[in-house]
Amino acid sequence: MSTHPQVEPTAKVALGDLAEMKQSGTPIVMVTAYDYPSARLADAAGIDIVFVGDSAANNVLGYPDTTAISMDEMVMLARAARRGTRRGFFMVDMPLGAFQVSDEEAVRNAVRLVKEAGAEAVKIEGAGPMVARARAIVATGIPVMGHIGLTPQTAISLGGFKAQGRTASKARQLYTDALALQAAGCFAIVLEAVPARIAERITEALRIPTIGIGAGAACSGQVLVWHDLLGINDGHQPRFVKQFAAVGDEMRRGLEAFAAEVRAGTYPAAEHTYKIGTEELALFESEIAPGVLAGDDWL
Ligand code: KIV
Repeated sequence: MSTHPQVEPTAKVALGDLAEMKQSGTPIVMVTAYDYPSARLADAAGIDIVFVGDSAANNVLGYPDTTAISMDEMVMLARAARRGTRRGFFMVDMPLGAFQVSDEEAVRNAVRLVKEAGAEAVKIEGAGPMVARARAIVATGIPVMGHIGLTPQTAISLGGFKAQGRTASKARQLYTDALALQAAGCFAIVLEAVPARIAERITEALRIPTIGIGAGAACSGQVLVWHDLLGINDGHQPRFVKQFAAVGDEMRRGLEAFAAEVRAGTYPAAEHTYKIGTEELALFESEIAPGVLAGDDWL
């Protein structure tokens, strides 16, 4: 049985609900969804935040990492996911290049995600100069979620896809970055691949919720990537991933069964086919009988 008080909102999840969930100690559940059917399923499962992450780049578009995905691609995917989201708070990631160049560019692209994709909030990676970007977007009235720790868009300069904040000075930097993002007006912060004890101290220090991914159980909520938690991705998985289902195996099993039945001639069976009345069929046969449909009649 859960030790957390369960005060999950039953109606549409609003920004204020997320703040209240942090106050009451109710864990916030967030998941990535990149299209209409997955957003519908997430919504039906009672997920609090339905999030179109830029991890769509590697999970659905086949790029090697998140750096290549464009604003246009994010908008197209987010529009589809938006149509499937009714109850969940709907958030969209800002991809690399959409906010780093200037405050103006960041605001323009955040507004685009709201107007064209129905985003209720956006997420940006990083701190330092990105704190000003967060402040500028928040000033336009668009809620911003920060993201620190392992930030995949800039993983190369972090030394690769590895845990962050594992020395006292690096942990202190994360702590001050989190406070700076909160001061800039962020409504929540993702902590990715951060030691659990550091994430706990950051969570205690903030008024706003933290959402952990590889940051331990003390965060105000947890996020996982759709394809990771449902077991659709194969190959190497980060330490923090737990597979809650083996959907990929089930999909492959279904596809193999389909192929086998087509090849064996057992699909489609009579119940999968449409019928035509005997009279109409006889008429049709007479109309295509040799000599009746001749010359250029069929052109
Ligand atoms: O794009 C993504 O999947 C993310 C998660 C780490 C939250 O940003």
